Amino acid sequence: MSAGAGLAEGARPMLYGRRRGRALRPGQRRLLETSLPALSFAVPDVQPLDPRTLFPVPVEAVWLELGFGGGEHLAAQAALHPAIGMLGSEVYANGVAKLLAEIERKGIANVRILVDDARLLVAALAERCLGRVFILFPDPWPKERHKKRRIVSPVLLDGLARAMEDGAELRLATDDMDYARAMLERALAHPAFRWCAEGPRDWRERTADWPATRYELKALAAGRKPLYLRFARRDRGARSRI
Ligand SMILES: C[S@@+](CC[C@H](N)C(=O)[O-])C[C@H]1O[C@@H](n2cnc3c(N)ncnc32)[C@H](O)[C@@H]1O
Repeated sequence: MSAGAGLAEGARPMLYGRRRGRALRPGQRRLLETSLPALSFAVPDVQPLDPRTLFPVPVEAVWLELGFGGGEHLAAQAALHPAIGMLGSEVYANGVAKLLAEIERKGIANVRILVDDARLLVAALAERCLGRVFILFPDPWPKERHKKRRIVSPVLLDGLARAMEDGAELRLATDDMDYARAMLERALAHPAFRWCAEGPRDWRERTADWPATRYELKALAAGRKPLYLRFARRDRGARSRI
């Protein structure tokens, strides 16, 4: 049975962007062949998926990063929080290989990886199973005709609202101001999310427990100022339907 959070059962949304970049180095190929099978999972046919079952030992909570790129942020969070089960989803093989190298280098044991579309995972997850979600510098798709490709969509927010625990945090970041506006408008319009900002510093600066990503560093080097948006999943309350 499918959880079907906004995706019709069996439906696979169109995936845009690259799956592979420059030729993988032999070490990266080795990691994809030897390390990935033990750390990766597929979206199961039988849903909903309780992500705690993906980890060999009990975890305090499960956090998810969508489109982790080279995995710098995901690996850093996993290393900082060894009792958390960190899930990451990425479709770009070169990025996955980079994360695997970091996992090996740091001896990280609490990461599980989906090499597939993050939207399928969100739709498949059990209700109230995520304690934190990160979507950092997602592809901005700036052209008007491409904006519908943006991953932070009302459908995704509905799926996250369902999969996130009460009080769970959603962290979004981008250096594309048009996308930032759209993210903010969509999340503010969503009944399940509350913006945590109290003043400009809250969206102009990362919190101390928010490691930088590769795309963020590229944006800063190019003189662009990213926006950091933190939302809390509102309490459902006894009779709430959101
Ligand atoms: C602009 S990069 C940012 C990467 C990283 N978060 C960072 O800040 O450095 C966006 C990433 O999202 C990935 N991506 C795009 N759509 C995705 C999807 N539907 N599911 C999983 N990953 C996706 C892309 O492959 C790409 O690596």
